Amino acid sequence: MSAHDAAHHGFSTASIHAGYEPDSLYGSINTPIYASTTFAQNGLNELRGGYEYTRCGNPTITALEKTVAALEKAEFGRAFSSGMAATDVLLRVLLRPGAHLIFGHDAYGGTFRLIDQVFSAWGVDYTVVDTTDASQVAAAVKDNTALVWLETPSNPGLSVTDIAAVAAALKDAGTDAKLVVDNTFASPYLQNPLSLGADVVLHSTTKYLGGHSDVVGGVVVTNDAKIDEDLLFYQGGAGSIPSVFDAYLTARGIKTLAVRMERHCDNAEAIAAHLQASDKVATVYYPGLDTHPGHEVAARQMRRFGAMISVRFHSEEAARAFCLNTKLVCLAESLGGVESLLEHPATMTHQSVTGSTLEVPRDLVRISVGIEDIEDLLADVDQALAAI
Ligand SMILES: Cc1ncc(COP(=O)(O)O)c(C=O)c1O
Repeated sequence: MSAHDAAHHGFSTASIHAGYEPDSLYGSINTPIYASTTFAQNGLNELRGGYEYTRCGNPTITALEKTVAALEKAEFGRAFSSGMAATDVLLRVLLRPGAHLIFGHDAYGGTFRLIDQVFSAWGVDYTVVDTTDASQVAAAVKDNTALVWLETPSNPGLSVTDIAAVAAALKDAGTDAKLVVDNTFASPYLQNPLSLGADVVLHSTTKYLGGHSDVVGGVVVTNDAKIDEDLLFYQGGAGSIPSVFDAYLTARGIKTLAVRMERHCDNAEAIAAHLQASDKVATVYYPGLDTHPGHEVAARQMRRFGAMISVRFHSEEAARAFCLNTKLVCLAESLGGVESLLEHPATMTHQSVTGSTLEVPRDLVRISVGIEDIEDLLADVDQALAAI
């Protein structure tokens, strides 16, 4: 099914069929893993099926790119070897030495580290703002601002930014800066930032899109033909493509994204409410709770509220004890897989932002709620709470 056709179908239909037709040789229902470095040519530079060398394009990778683009209602998609490889290429496409960027106050530590420690050597300057307030974003715009980078819901604070409001504020400010949304926490099932005014969307497909904690990858989608042309150039020119096996696994995971996300959200809603009722817990950050400051915006721009929860305990010791006492919910980095995971961002995923404006409170625990039976998850949470 072409991306164009997919636009006229429901999300699940598109996630199963977009980007691939059963092949004409054997009618394979699934995208074949084209484990071929190179492709035979009919004549000098006369390609048989449009492919010449896998670093510059491969049918298995193309199928993944088309599927994610269709799900994000985008014209173009490019896949990379990790979310960070996708981020690195996108930053190189959008920034030039001496450029300025605006960065969300709460975001994945690895993205901040790349900007702060690698792109700063390019003379790139950045301003960190609270993107939940669109006027702060507009006020930070300079003549050389090339992009605004935000996450919503954000990692790990679960803050919710009104994408349409930020897009409108940038338009009013008269800037050419591109609005980039890292949509990893929501997945395309819950939120489509391009439809809300973003210029580019990035996913760590390692998380919900792959969905089974068995593959690392990243995808960038856009409707901007020039940005896509440059992404393609860097993808092949610098070589940060995914392996064909990884592209296949990711595309396989995507087929069940809708059903997984529904169950993820059901479980997360129940766990967030349960945690909020405990006196061992100081605060629960979950956009689905009506006490969350971004609840109304999330209800407007997301299909449901996602399955990431952050919990503040009354002390760092209590947070650490909770991490060490769950039995089913595994202490591990990453998120978005079928199994529930928890981690302590201040010492794990976000250790690199310690001492920066993005520093994470040390009493905070991040939970990626999986799709296990909710009774088992609640029992595990209860016994861990009892142990702290
Ligand atoms: C929101 C977000 N963006 C990007 C990344 C980086 O992705 P990857 O680990 O696939 O390189 C992560 C990783 O945790 C993330 O949480």
